[in-house]
Amino acid sequence: MSGWSWPLLLAHRCGGAHAPENTLAGLSLAARLGCRAVEFDVMLSRDKIPVLIHDEALMRTAGLPGVVPDLSAAQLLATDVGRHFHPAFSGEMIPTLELALAACHQLGLAANVEIKPAAGFEAETGHVVGALLEALPEDARPEVLLSSFSIEALQAVEQQVPGLPRAVLVEGYSPEALAAAHQLGCVSVNMGLSGLEAAHVQAVQSSGLRVMVYTVNTQEAARRLVEWGVSGLFSDRPDLLLALDAEVPFR
Ligand code: G3P
Ligand code: MG
Repeated sequence: MSGWSWPLLLAHRCGGAHAPENTLAGLSLAARLGCRAVEFDVMLSRDKIPVLIHDEALMRTAGLPGVVPDLSAAQLLATDVGRHFHPAFSGEMIPTLELALAACHQLGLAANVEIKPAAGFEAETGHVVGALLEALPEDARPEVLLSSFSIEALQAVEQQVPGLPRAVLVEGYSPEALAAAHQLGCVSVNMGLSGLEAAHVQAVQSSGLRVMVYTVNTQEAARRLVEWGVSGLFSDRPDLLLALDAEVPFR
């Protein structure tokens, strides 16, 4: 498993718990803390612009009614997701994927783009994200890892822009998930922490793929996973894991 240049630690949803999720402020915070990689979630607006957001509904992050696939990019980009998190972030809007990638490139952050399609838009979201990446000149593109819980999205993005590293996302290990990752040509299986066992990590690694784990918010859990040989940790508390990140070589 050579040629891997991803650090152990990825700040989850841009800046973890330090900033409103899936925002440019989060990317800045992650870089400022010393993170070398981030993860964020991407969904399509009604007019097919990829934007950073986790839920279909705006309520949790913006405190507003409405769902992403019903709203135009103009409406989403004018949606404040900072104020609801903390008044200090008032005016922090939903960003486009394009802007987030440019920020990652400028800040030297590797970007795990999680394709998070609204229901019914799985393949389309993969195609649009792929087309955007395809159109970016290589010298303006950050290091990218594509991931999704959606098999259709992972297939579509590969069709659109072949050859970029991809990871299948699952809540928990299963032999079926591992088989799907191989069938899709993925480089990694990204799994939830809850219920994860050393034997699961071993099964994935012995088949030639990497394991990345979400969401790891304590040093104790992180150290255990490092002992198990995992390659990546998504964290809401990157501040707690930076020392470990510096210790563990790419693997
Ligand atoms: O990609 C890892 C993690 O982000 C997956 O879960 O729900 O936080 O997108 P979620
Ligand atoms: Mg995610």
